Amino acid sequence: MNRRSAVESTVDRIRRLTKNNDVDPSCLMAIKFELLSLAQQRELFTQHDFAPPTPGAKRQSCLYRIAEDSDHRFALYVNSARAGVDTPAHNHTTWAIIVGIDGDEMNRFYRRTDDGVEITHTETVRAGNGVAMMPDDLHSIHIHGTEPIINFHMYGLGLEQLHARQYFEAETSQWKVFPPHDDIRDAR
Ligand SMILES: [Fe+2]
Repeated sequence: MNRRSAVESTVDRIRRLTKNNDVDPSCLMAIKFELLSLAQQRELFTQHDFAPPTPGAKRQSCLYRIAEDSDHRFALYVNSARAGVDTPAHNHTTWAIIVGIDGDEMNRFYRRTDDGVEITHTETVRAGNGVAMMPDDLHSIHIHGTEPIINFHMYGLGLEQLHARQYFEAETSQWKVFPPHDDIRDAR
């Protein structure tokens, strides 16, 4: 099966799972299962087709859009990244799922406290597993292996539409808002 039809049939099944956009944690598990199954076709999602950033580039990760509806729902990206990624704790304001294809991506999860955040648990996303988050859930991403990594990031709404994603700036102990992502490569 080629990549386009494999992606389209996966997103079709995910769209049907969400029944009028009513997404709860058990629905997210079902969506994650569909993405895990797509990720098993590793030959469709290689670093050859989804190149990581060149060493020393300003950004250590590249996002390639492989699906998004015309109303910007069901946005699916291939994330191709190198060691050196450390995001602050942040939410997404829509549901979000990460599923591994190749390499290790460490995720830390947090709860809000009066003066910021505290870690609740960590999970390493790699081939065969993934993590799912509801709109207010908080996580941070850490990539420090020697090899580039590839994984899926899927969001209920495309990243350019998310104007109120909050992150916690540890240096100032303040919640701030991420600017919408501005460096997404279309690979549909
Ligand atoms: Fe995130």
